[in-house]
Amino acid sequence: MTKIALLPGDGIGSEILDGPVELLRRLTAAGAPIELTGPLPYGTSGWRDSGSILPEQTLQACRTADVVLSGAVGTHPGVSAAECPNPEMALIKLRSLFDLRISVRTVWVPGFEDVTIVRNITGGAYADPGQRQESDGTGPAVDEVRLLPERVHEVLTMAADYAKQAPHRRYISVDKASVFATSRLWRTIANQVSVATEVQFENVNVDRAAYELIRYPDLPAVIATEGIFGDILSDAVCARAGSPALCGSATINPDRSFGAGITALFEPAHGSSPHRTGSRRSNPTGAWLGLAALLDWCPDLAPLGLSNRIRAALEIVYTNGIRTYDLATEQSSAVGMDEFNRLLLAEVEVPQYV
Ligand code: IPM
Ligand code: MN
Repeated sequence: MTKIALLPGDGIGSEILDGPVELLRRLTAAGAPIELTGPLPYGTSGWRDSGSILPEQTLQACRTADVVLSGAVGTHPGVSAAECPNPEMALIKLRSLFDLRISVRTVWVPGFEDVTIVRNITGGAYADPGQRQESDGTGPAVDEVRLLPERVHEVLTMAADYAKQAPHRRYISVDKASVFATSRLWRTIANQVSVATEVQFENVNVDRAAYELIRYPDLPAVIATEGIFGDILSDAVCARAGSPALCGSATINPDRSFGAGITALFEPAHGSSPHRTGSRRSNPTGAWLGLAALLDWCPDLAPLGLSNRIRAALEIVYTNGIRTYDLATEQSSAVGMDEFNRLLLAEVEVPQYV
């Protein structure tokens, strides 16, 4: 049985999960081994409803769940940034509490092949919030980046596994070795992993990588890099894909110790889009890709083969010219999110599991 905690979060986070949650409910009704918990309060809306961006009730649910499916964390209509200044800390805290130390995101680039960005979280620019030195505006502020060889090795080895699934493409390891000691370590380990796995990572400086991702006709299959570089470059790949909504994101604990709290968190990579909240126009592709990654990750669910059905359904809907507003052109008028989900769900057949 896989326990999934639902943390819709802020802005469009709730509506964006409607389609994926509907599929999960259909699967549960058909006897699939899924137990849903939530929706649980989280982020700015969690603060508004219960006084905390990561309330105890939500934490408790995460301690007993296997994975989280989240919508978005950020700004929420009706709550000012002054009232709730840093809601993203809820996501960062969850990552650190459950040691979700590697981020894997897949950008679906219609008409091209996917791009997978594997980046480290632990010790890097996103490290433990407790290690930051804040400034009152007069004294210094300090953010430490401290990379351990074994952690860098783990990220690159995982990136190599993804590369093996995409033969004959390009794989890049991104750093800024001309400046940072952490990047020089990164590059040393990348070269070792290239030899050990026979996956040839090309070492590319982060500024050059940004240029190439925007300019080169072909995109690399895999980008392995430090947390902050990967955050920025994944948005650049989304720009190539056509919309920030085309990216499914996972933060995982590669130990995969099921039964001891959440092992991974899945979400679309886009933000909470407060101005679009309630419009039901947003593109739910990232949430669907997040769900597909979740279904692949969980040992009880992977054998059901549903992730491929979701991806195939996205292709079919796209090939049929169905577009949400962000991707619509003169040839394809925009459909709303509910219509998009209806067409997509019609393509994902749900078998009976009992
Ligand atoms: C993202 C976001 C997060 C990240 C923030 C909110 C911590 O920018 O999912 O891309 O950088 O991981
Ligand atoms: Mn980001």
